[in-house]
Amino acid sequence: MAKSTTTFVCQACGATTSKWSGRCDSCGEWNSIVEEKPLSAGPASKSLGAARGRTAPLTDLSTEETPPPRTLSGLDEFDRVLGGGLVPASAVLVGGDPGIGKSTLLLQAAAQFARSGLKTLYVSGEEASAQVRMRAQRLGLSDAPVKLAAETNLRDILTTLEEERPGLAIIDSIQTMWADNVDSAPGSVSQVRAAAHELVTFAKRRGMAVILVGHVTKEGQIAGPRVVEHMVDTVLYFEGERGHQFRILRAVKNRFGPADEIGVFEMTGGGLSQVANPSALFLSDREEPAPGAAVFAGIEGTRPVLVEFQCLVAPSSLSQPRRSVLGWDGGRLAMILAVLEARCGIPFAGLDVYLNVAGGLRVSEPAADLAVATALLSAREDVAIARDMVVFGEISLSGALRPVGQTENRLKEAQKLGFTTAIAPARSKAGDKPGLALKSYPDLAGYVGDMFGA
Ligand code: TYD
Ligand code: MG
Repeated sequence: MAKSTTTFVCQACGATTSKWSGRCDSCGEWNSIVEEKPLSAGPASKSLGAARGRTAPLTDLSTEETPPPRTLSGLDEFDRVLGGGLVPASAVLVGGDPGIGKSTLLLQAAAQFARSGLKTLYVSGEEASAQVRMRAQRLGLSDAPVKLAAETNLRDILTTLEEERPGLAIIDSIQTMWADNVDSAPGSVSQVRAAAHELVTFAKRRGMAVILVGHVTKEGQIAGPRVVEHMVDTVLYFEGERGHQFRILRAVKNRFGPADEIGVFEMTGGGLSQVANPSALFLSDREEPAPGAAVFAGIEGTRPVLVEFQCLVAPSSLSQPRRSVLGWDGGRLAMILAVLEARCGIPFAGLDVYLNVAGGLRVSEPAADLAVATALLSAREDVAIARDMVVFGEISLSGALRPVGQTENRLKEAQKLGFTTAIAPARSKAGDKPGLALKSYPDLAGYVGDMFGA
């Protein structure tokens, strides 16, 4: 009897099984398993491939040969997140929620790349060419020498790419692409995987850079398989809060540059405009000093960014008080609350805690610990802290304050924005900054006693 050729694929994580079940064993997602035909329908050939001479000794790849230069789009925020421009023959994935502005960003980037001399092809699977053209007109980009194609069939796209030989192809979006040799619906894991694989391999072979756009599911993953993330060199996420005009382009993986780099944009009527000084933007709508607010001198990627932590502490009517966090790690908050209780004798039992990073930024640095503790105490004690003070430092479980990296850059940014006091862990190395006083503390208890008299 011929072997069954169908497999069951989890649409959330891409795991395959031989039988259907209600819950994926790999990722635990419910109702995500769908029957799909396997990628290679035919039997695997037993004979060896014809490839020959495709290897070369490492030492042969001559060291004098300089790597091909990166192309700068001139859209500085975008270039920086890429690690200093677009690397030739690289594959980039730009993920984000529907409607966040991916198409807008990439159309603007395409226009800039085309203007700086890189032959650029924008393939839209979601909009007709006329619609893309209309959008370009509205963005004031209609004179940019970008080639457009409205196409979803992968075979046709590859033919077009073969003929056009662009230096950069933008595929918007990978979920609309469809390979006719794969027997499942567009947007399914098999299709997304096959299309991404074909496009990336093609791009590498032809020395063409490719940017894939991917929609993100509610859970925050690129819809379909994580495997697309492994296939590309660089993964960027375009994120932002609904209702906020700020958009943040974040590198989460980059073979050619630092991960965690961010680019900040503002969505306006005329498209995305770059925000060269994010600190000023994130702090711009600060009101009078209020209890619960503390400014953190952070580093995002290679750039210092000052952001405000806002905290509210209120008596709880729940047996298990609420801990609500936006823009910061919930586990980390629990840890800081525990350290405050155990090392400084300040309990938060019976109190609801709400913590928020102003402006919709997401902070992941442990260096923000001390700023979070400051916001928590300021809210709990109902005392506003000085408006011109920045805070940074990592808190260890023992209650000691640990110095963090890039102290100098953090202080410079604070000084530039007119702050006059900086709180940092002891042993932080920094030169003198006129107008900015550096106060350092070896442990949390000492700081809390000094600051809040607790
Ligand atoms: P879009 O780039 O289509 O999002 P995506 O490709 O990620 O789905 O952006 C759509 C949103 O951006 C839409 O809500 C309108 C807004 N927008 C502006 O505010 N100004 C503009 O100039 C453009 C082109 C879009
Ligand atoms: Mg779009």
